[in-house]
Amino acid sequence: MHAAVILLVFMCLMPTTHADHHHHQQPCHLPNVTGLMTVMDLQDPVKALGGFTYDSTGNKLRFRSNENFPNASRHLDLLMFFEEGIFYEINSKNQSCEKKKLHYNHHALRIPEDAQFLATMNLGNPSIVGEGLEFSMWEGSVADNTGKYVISVTKGCLPVSILYYRKSTTVIFSFMNLESGIKNPEVLEVPSFCGGLSVEETSNGTVNSFLDLFM
Ligand SMILES: *[C@@H]1O[C@H](CO)[C@@H](O)[C@H](O)[C@H]1NC(C)=O
Ligand SMILES: *[C@@H]1O[C@H](CO)[C@@H](O)[C@H](O)[C@H]1NC(C)=O
Ligand SMILES: *[C@@H]1O[C@H](CO)[C@@H](O)[C@H](O)[C@H]1NC(C)=O
Ligand SMILES: *[C@@H]1O[C@H](CO)[C@@H](O)[C@H](O)[C@H]1NC(C)=O
Repeated sequence: MHAAVILLVFMCLMPTTHADHHHHQQPCHLPNVTGLMTVMDLQDPVKALGGFTYDSTGNKLRFRSNENFPNASRHLDLLMFFEEGIFYEINSKNQSCEKKKLHYNHHALRIPEDAQFLATMNLGNPSIVGEGLEFSMWEGSVADNTGKYVISVTKGCLPVSILYYRKSTTVIFSFMNLESGIKNPEVLEVPSFCGGLSVEETSNGTVNSFLDLFM
């Protein structure tokens, strides 16, 4: 009798487990979001620190370091159009711009479709409200196959961090103080002083990608 019950339970569980293995976890999609991003590597605990705005529909990103944290890191002002494969390096002080070709559209806020699901884990204690954070981890190869990434996102797909291992370097992007939606849509528009620029020549051997801008 006992054995039969165990067998029945086991048989009921089997198809579920089986189904779970077959049901591939699909990478989730981040909604529009505004927040803070920090970038660090093993040499430099603050390579960049600043506010970002991400339009997930248009796949556009603005990142400005030092805006609220003067002198925290090197100055960067980037406006990235991942779909178009174009980005701008903006210098608001002297109202100058460089328009460049983006060779890979991989970036830290979108889990690539071919990412492999690794695990779901918790930071802190998930059984106490406000003391835990559930997140899932995904891994894959960076677009030009020079390294790997591990990306962590919350249940609602908000970015937590992304770790890149490449050659002998490790670069970590972390995200904080996220708010839903786009607070200032104008930051995703090309400033008037950048209008009409042509795309600069990329010198031989230079690869422009989101990751390379921070290396
Ligand atoms: C994200 O923001 C853009 C620009 O404001 C808007 O066009 C788009 O509809 C928004 N997407 C979502 C999912 O809210
Ligand atoms: C930032 O650096 C500049 C030049 O080095 C200096 O004049 C300024 O006082 C610094 N600002 C802060 C808030 O530390
Ligand atoms: C603007 O300033 C940046 C950095 O200070 C410099 O590299 C660039 O050449 C300047 N551009 C113009 C048009 O003055
Ligand atoms: C890049 O390399 C190719 C071939 O090696 C050469 O023909 C071309 O002129 C180079 N371009 C630049 C911008 O240096």
